[in-house]
Formats: sequence, C-alpha cells, structure tokens
Amino acid sequence: MRAADLADDLTTVLVTEEQIRARLEEIAQQVAADYRGQNLLLVGVLKGAVMVMADFARALPMVVPMDWMAVSSYGTGTRSSGVVQIRKDLDTDIHDRHVLIVEDIIDSGLTLSWLLDNFASRGAASVEVFALLRKPDAAKVHVDCRYVGFDIPNEFVVGYGLDFAERYRNLRDVAVLSRHVYA
Ligand code: XMP
Ligand code: MG
Repeated sequence: MRAADLADDLTTVLVTEEQIRARLEEIAQQVAADYRGQNLLLVGVLKGAVMVMADFARALPMVVPMDWMAVSSYGTGTRSSGVVQIRKDLDTDIHDRHVLIVEDIIDSGLTLSWLLDNFASRGAASVEVFALLRKPDAAKVHVDCRYVGFDIPNEFVVGYGLDFAERYRNLRDVAVLSRHVYA
C-alpha cells in the first residue's frame, strides 16, 4: 500500500518508495566497490529490516549470502536500556567474516551498539552497519554507521518494514504516524 491509502493515519511522508529505491542503488554501488574481492555476509535484524534487506541485496551486483538475527531490547518503562536478548541467533559462524549489518533504523543506537560488540567478540574480520534511516537527534550512544540511507527527524515513523504494533510494515513509503493512532 501507498501512503495515500492510509491518509488518516499518517501526518507526513518523509521518504517515498521511489527515493528509497534510488538511494539503495547508490549505496549498493558503494558497498560493491568497498567489498570488492572480499567475502561479504549481510546480516539483517528482524523484523524491521526485511524490506530493506530484500531490496538492497537485490541491488548488489555480486553474490552475497544473507543471515538474520532477532533481538529484543529490555529497559525500564519506555527507555531502551541497551540490554539486549537474542531471540534468534545467526546460523553462520562469522569468525573471520566481513559482516555488514542491515538495519531499518538507528534511534538511540543502543541496540546496534550492543550488536557491534557482540559480533566483534565472535571474531568477525570486520563489522560495519548500513541503516536505511537514522534519527540523529535521538542518539544516546554513538554508533559508527558506514552507510546511511536518510537522516530523519526525531518522530515515530512507520512503513517499509517499520511497524506500530505489527501494523504498517507493508506500507511502501516511510511516514510519520499520526498521534491519534497511539494516543
Ligand atoms: P535503538 O533505540 O536501540 O532502537 O536504536 C532501534 C530499534 O527501535 C525500533 N524503532 C522504531 N520502530 N518506528 C518504528 O517502527 C520508529 O520510529 C522507531 N524508532 C526505533 C526499531 O525496531 C529499531 O530497530
Ligand atoms: Mg521494531
């Protein structure tokens, strides 16, 4: 579905499907050049990264395996504490592998910061991050993110894999969720 199919639930469309597709092509060319001759593994973080992984992996002009992790963050109240539990681990041994984590969004940065440490402790040859979206004003910890699709304002967004209560993941665009939906 497109944002127009949901007009009452959304306030602003921040990134359209067309803009996402164009940006993924650019980043795919960059990644292909940066990893030429290397044995790259893409790791997607479920479930939000499903859409970006599917489109990004197909934009890459090279053979590249994909693996997945599912994690949940625990915190007090609404705050992510950075304490992360693995709900589904990798199927791949990443020792000596070049890993590119594919994420939907970096908000506080706590989840990714934990994942980067975790992957480093498994002996990966390198670990880099591609995040489709980043909220610079929400950062609590700095995360070295080598590839960023779009910087967006500090608002709750849905679409292109991102959900509110499992809804809106199948929206093609990224849009700000109207407050009346969750207030
Ligand atoms: P942190 O704060 O650890 O969290 O960087 C990243 C994870 O939080 C979720 N998240 C969002 N999900 N709209 C969503 O649908 C948002 O605006 C949003 N901000 C953060 C997301 O699962 C991400 O992986
Ligand atoms: Mg999520």
